[in-house]
Formats: sequence, structure tokens, C-alpha cells
Amino acid sequence: MCSNIVDFKINGCHYKFPIVYGTYNKAINIAHLRENTEFITFDPGLKNTGVTKSSISFIDGEKGILLYRGYPIEQIIKKCSFIETSYLILNGELPNTAQLKHFSEKIKEFNCINQNIYKILDEIPNFCHPMGILSSLTYILTSFTNYLKDEDMYFHLLAKLPILAALTYRKKVGLPPSYPDKNISYVSNLLKMFFYIPNKSYQQNTIITDALDKLLILHADHEQNCSTTTVRLLGSAHADLFSAVSAGISALWGRLHGGANQAVIEMLEVILKSGGNIKKWLDKAKNKKDPFRLMGFGHRIYKNFDPRAKIAKKVAENIVKELNISDPVLELAKNLEEKALQDSYFKEKKLYPNIDFYSGIIYQAIGIPKDMFTVMFALGRLPGWMAHWKEMKLNMDPIVRPRQIYIGNKKRNIQKN
Ligand code: CMC
Repeated sequence: MCSNIVDFKINGCHYKFPIVYGTYNKAINIAHLRENTEFITFDPGLKNTGVTKSSISFIDGEKGILLYRGYPIEQIIKKCSFIETSYLILNGELPNTAQLKHFSEKIKEFNCINQNIYKILDEIPNFCHPMGILSSLTYILTSFTNYLKDEDMYFHLLAKLPILAALTYRKKVGLPPSYPDKNISYVSNLLKMFFYIPNKSYQQNTIITDALDKLLILHADHEQNCSTTTVRLLGSAHADLFSAVSAGISALWGRLHGGANQAVIEMLEVILKSGGNIKKWLDKAKNKKDPFRLMGFGHRIYKNFDPRAKIAKKVAENIVKELNISDPVLELAKNLEEKALQDSYFKEKKLYPNIDFYSGIIYQAIGIPKDMFTVMFALGRLPGWMAHWKEMKLNMDPIVRPRQIYIGNKKRNIQKN
């Protein structure tokens, strides 16, 4: 029988702490630790800290398992679309036909943005990174919407983020703004808003639509990752959802998080240009005096393999083959993966390719420029961010306010008359 209590001996005294059980894992509830013992816990990076109870996604990093609402990612990829996955993540169950129709229609209902947002975008210099633009424009939505019901905010964001992403891309490449097409699917519309050229007829390509749909699904949620934690952090202070998602986008931009997808392709191109000497670059990544890290390798939770990376690799191989692209970067990526997985440093530290290692190759095949890769990740992660915000509100989680170990000066007086 499982015990519900753990017994700690601290400085000779015994203290009892309750155990919290989840579906697959367990934690020690230390809510009263400080009040009983004067100690706090010290866990930089929150590597060992459960911050909430959640039923959205589950990762078993040792076994390489990822579940969305209990369903394995491998099944979702085969059987669901991104929009069904978004419904699942937000609502807990897969939609029936009527629910899916209603969900899609509601998104289309909010498929437009205030004209003044186009003017704001016009004023942003072209050299700004698309993630900075997306985060700013998402935040600006707070000024263009009166008080909204939570339920409507989800639809507003699912409808408007693709428009903002497409506008950002089109401004960068000098295309006029495009508008949503209500008659096609969510991902087809996203692609059309990106690539539609006014004086040319637009042809949908199912290979591209399917690859992007899959990539968005792979990104849809990933439990308490850095950007989701950011969204929850803001939500815990009762900030509004647009502000929280805008902050989530900023966190995602970081190179150790979603920004890794851009960094991977940049790294692979540099390796290729410098002659493709893989050993030299692996040695650099292993050298502790060199800040270089093998981008797209390693993960806080996955210590065996990242199931998303396995699927992304197949999608990358497929799209490159189907579109008849000869991509030396894909070949280099596969060689690099093989060599790194044989290397004792990567083996001992359990460093495997993560989702970002292959996603850039897919985006490039689709025609999306490097500095837009993380924007695409954000579009995929949106349902996860919103589901966590929703869950946090339903759970009535307290405001997030960690403690610290203060190492500054002791109290002193200013020596000045
Ligand atoms: N290349 C070389 N060494 C590495 C790498 C790497 N990519 N990743 C980790 N290590 C080493 C690290 O130096 C450390 O060595 P030591 O124990 O000797 O100090 C050890 O492995 C553990 O690394 P860590 O940084 O303490 O692990 P973490 O859990 O804090 O960081 C990570 C996880 C993803 C930030 C890290 O592996 C990394 O920087 N990877 C490259 C960036 C990347 O691909 N990020 C995308 C993550 S997946 C998508 C997402 O969630 O956004």
C-alpha cells in the first residue's frame, strides 16, 4: 500500500509531509516546510519542483512518451488535425463532428483585426525580429478589444495570431497585407495568408498543408515548459490572456527554448559552409571553455529520445522527397545526429535530438524564412498556452511568488551626512 506521508529528519527533529499522487508520478507537498522548520527548498531552474496539478499533457522523459489529454502523440499525428488537437487540448476531449464545426466557425467569426493594427505594423522598422513584432502586436490586442469573456478570448487568439504572423511575414518580404479565406481549413488559410500574391492564382499544396498541420500538432502542448510557465505566471497575477500570451511569445523566442529552431538551421549552414567537419563541431560542443552548444540537442525532461523529434524527422524526409528538394542541410543533420548519438559525451549526458533539430528543415521546405520559424512554433503552442491559463483559473492556483536565498550585504547604514 502507498503511504500518504513522508517523514523527514531535519537537525534531529522529525517532520511529516503529505505526498501528492498524480496519474503517473508523485511529489512531496512542502507547503508548510518553512513555517515548521524555517527551511525553504533551493531548486534553481525548478528542475525538481512541481508547480501545479495539470491534466493537459504528460511526458515520461525516460521512456520518450508524450500524451495530450491521455492520447499518445503518435496516434494524434495519424488521426487528428491541428484544429481537432487544439479543441482536445483546450476542452479535454476530442470533438464530435458538430463540436468541431462549431469550434471552426467560431474561430472564423473573429478572423479579422482592427485596421489601426495595420498602421502600427507599418511604423515598425523592417529589421525588427518577427518574434518581437508578434509579441508586441499580440499585446496590442489588449487595446483593441473591450472586456471579453474567456471563452471568446480563445477564439480571438486562434483567429488573430495567424493573421498577425502572416502580416509580419508579408511586411518583411514586401508583400501587401492579405486577408483570411473563410472557405478553407485553418492551416490552408494560414498558408494562403502567408503566400498569396495578388496578381497570381494561389494553389494549395496538400503535401505542404499536411506537413505544417503535423508540425503545429507536435508543438501544441508540452506541460510546464518555459513559455507555458510564463503564461501561467502572468495568469496567476490575474493578468489578461492577451498579455499572458504576448509574454509567452517573448519567452519562446529565447534560443534555449523555441528560438532553437532558427539557431539549428543557422548552425547547420555554418557547419556546411565551413566544410562540414562534424567532429570539429562536436568537439566544440563538448569543450566546456567554448560557449557553443549543439543546438537542437538535449532536453530538460527527455533523457532517452524526444518522440516529437522522431516524427519531425520523418515529416522532414517526406516533404523533401515529395517536393523533390535536394537539401544538403537535411543530409548534414542526419549525419550529425548519427555521430552525436555514437559519442560518449552525448551518450553519458543523455543528449538526444529535440523537436527543433528537424523542424527548421520542414519550414524551409515550405518556404518559411529562418527568422519566422519561432513564429510558427508560437502558432502551434497557442492552444497549450491557453489551456494552461484556463486550467490555472479553474484550479484557482495562487499567485506565483517564489522565495530566494539572499546573499547580499547585511543591513548597514548609509555613511553620508
Ligand atoms: N550541447 C552540448 N552540451 C550540452 C547540450 C548541448 N546542446 N545540452 C546540454 N549540454 C550539457 C551541459 O553543458 C551540461 O553539462 P555539465 O553537466 O557538464 O555541466 C549537461 O549537458 C546538462 O545540461 P543543462 O544545460 O544543465 O540541462 P538543462 O536541462 O538545464 O537544459 C536545454 C536543457 C534544452 C536548455 C539544453 O540541453 C540546451 O541548451 N540545448 C540546446 C538548445 C536547444 O536545443 N533547445 C531546444 C529545447 S527543445 C524545444 C523547447 O522546449 O523549446
